[in-house]
Amino acid sequence: MAPGLVEPTQYNDIKPKDIKAASITDSTIKYTPGRSIPESHEHYEHEDLRPRFPDVHWPPLTEVPYQDKGFEGDPHFRNLLSAATDVFDYNPKIGTEIHGIDLANLTDAQKNDLARLIATRGVVFFRDQRNFDIEAQRELGKYFGTLHRHATTSVPIRPGLEDVHVVFTGENSQDMRAMFTPTFLWHSDVTYEIQPPSYTSLKVLTGPPRGGGGDTLWSSQYAAYDALSPSMQKYLEGLTAMHSAEMQAQGSRDLGRAVRRDAVITEHPLVRVNPVTGWKSLFFNPGFVTKIVGIPKTESDAIIGYLNEVIATTQELNVRFQWNKNDVAFWDNRVCNHSASYGFAPHRRHAVRVCCHGERPVFDPAGKSQENEFAERYGIPKVNKDGSGIVNYND
Ligand SMILES: [Fe+2]
Repeated sequence: MAPGLVEPTQYNDIKPKDIKAASITDSTIKYTPGRSIPESHEHYEHEDLRPRFPDVHWPPLTEVPYQDKGFEGDPHFRNLLSAATDVFDYNPKIGTEIHGIDLANLTDAQKNDLARLIATRGVVFFRDQRNFDIEAQRELGKYFGTLHRHATTSVPIRPGLEDVHVVFTGENSQDMRAMFTPTFLWHSDVTYEIQPPSYTSLKVLTGPPRGGGGDTLWSSQYAAYDALSPSMQKYLEGLTAMHSAEMQAQGSRDLGRAVRRDAVITEHPLVRVNPVTGWKSLFFNPGFVTKIVGIPKTESDAIIGYLNEVIATTQELNVRFQWNKNDVAFWDNRVCNHSASYGFAPHRRHAVRVCCHGERPVFDPAGKSQENEFAERYGIPKVNKDGSGIVNYND
């Protein structure tokens, strides 16, 4: 028998009376594995922000002016960070959390830094933003650009908030996992629009307590581009993709809900350059891209399947956020995909999203790779993209 191994019979010799129980008091931590207690919502403070689906019809979107506030931000974010008590990245590619900031009371210089930071980090998290009510959230959104109105998803009951998107799962809502495969649920919002959103905020008003589920995940499209071989990058840079609103609209019609603006299909470059950072990013998402233009369907299907896999399963591109009540995530929808997690019944989960139109996506051959820029700036070894002859792995 190898050293350290014990014959099972020796364990059998231990009797219950030999195990000394710690004294159990009222202050002993109460814990039930896999179980978190649902909150009562009898007197719910956000009734006016619960969802409705108005039966109205809006004209097609036309191009709106967009001037990115990130250009005016300080390259070191000093105006914003002067108010911060802590700041840390979730990983090198994506996700930063800042403490000490009140999003409802930012100076213009801090707002500009915020835009620049979001464009740089993909998504930035703020805890416990109780002052950042829906008016403040819309005001900050309007500072960044023209607010987008969604054509199909729910808006708040309170009139006049048609530019707010409501996320609501009630205590008795049906679980939606059967509608979405985990890969397909990855998306960036409304990329079928001619000017898909840039700066996007989501605030959770109420949700499962810690450990109750309902996390949101984001995936960097800068890093997705950088994960590809130079040959694949070059190939995709010459292509465009069709982004379709049709499936989302049909889903609403199937439920008897109004489609408030006719569904559109828009062609966008498959690689775009963020105007603030100058970095190239993939501009692809499993949710709305139906076809890559100008190549055979089998080739398009294969590329779509491959890019879906890169986005959904390359862990270093991804960040996962565990929400508490009043937390806010602010992301750059041009350079991130995001996805939700399910399995949090019977908790209520209620969130409100505000976003502004960005620029019409463009590819610029002068754009840079985020990874190469960091490698040069910080002396990080260049990534080896030759998968042959590599035997090491990581746990
Ligand atoms: Fe979304």
